[in-house]
Amino acid sequence: MEFILKLHSFLRWALVLLMLVSIVKAAISTSGKNPYTPSDRKRTLFTMIAAHLQLVIGVILYVSNGWSQNFSNMSATMKNGVLRFWTVEHLTMMILAIVFITIGNIRSKKMDTDGGKYKQILIWFGLALLIIIAAMPWPFRTELGRGWF
Ligand code: HEM
Repeated sequence: MEFILKLHSFLRWALVLLMLVSIVKAAISTSGKNPYTPSDRKRTLFTMIAAHLQLVIGVILYVSNGWSQNFSNMSATMKNGVLRFWTVEHLTMMILAIVFITIGNIRSKKMDTDGGKYKQILIWFGLALLIIIAAMPWPFRTELGRGWF
């Protein structure tokens, strides 16, 4: 499971980087001046694939590392910050972020104009990134912090 955890940890940077590039490009392109190119489309797709991979790996870790068993004693779990983070907060917030990334991908595809496509990416990826930043076990977070890689 150590390898799976490392993969999950590493893949977060690939996801965050893809999202950052997509958001910056979208922010400077919503006016519609820049065409939405096949490479933009590919980046959006890769972002969604990376997010869904994180979901699959996360579920494997969640079950195999025993976090799902904490549901049997929810009152004790909710009282302990570290248990609550791994059992409830990280899971629900990251799933919400992945849903937003998926919505951004679908809605950008449906838009007729290039500016409209960029706008959908800016909104949904932007919201998702904020959630991911909030739900990340950053090294500086007391007790639940993990390494940078
Ligand atoms: C945007 C998606 C996600 C990101 C960026 C992310 C990020 C991270 C990071 C940075 C770690 C710490 C890795 C380490 O210790 O080196 C971690 C651990 C973990 N994540 Fe995620 N995660 C995501 C989605 C999910 C999802 C959807 C789930 C559950 C369904 C999940 C479950 C877990 C679990 C169980 C651990 C390991 C806790 C342990 O050590 O047992 N993650 N995640």
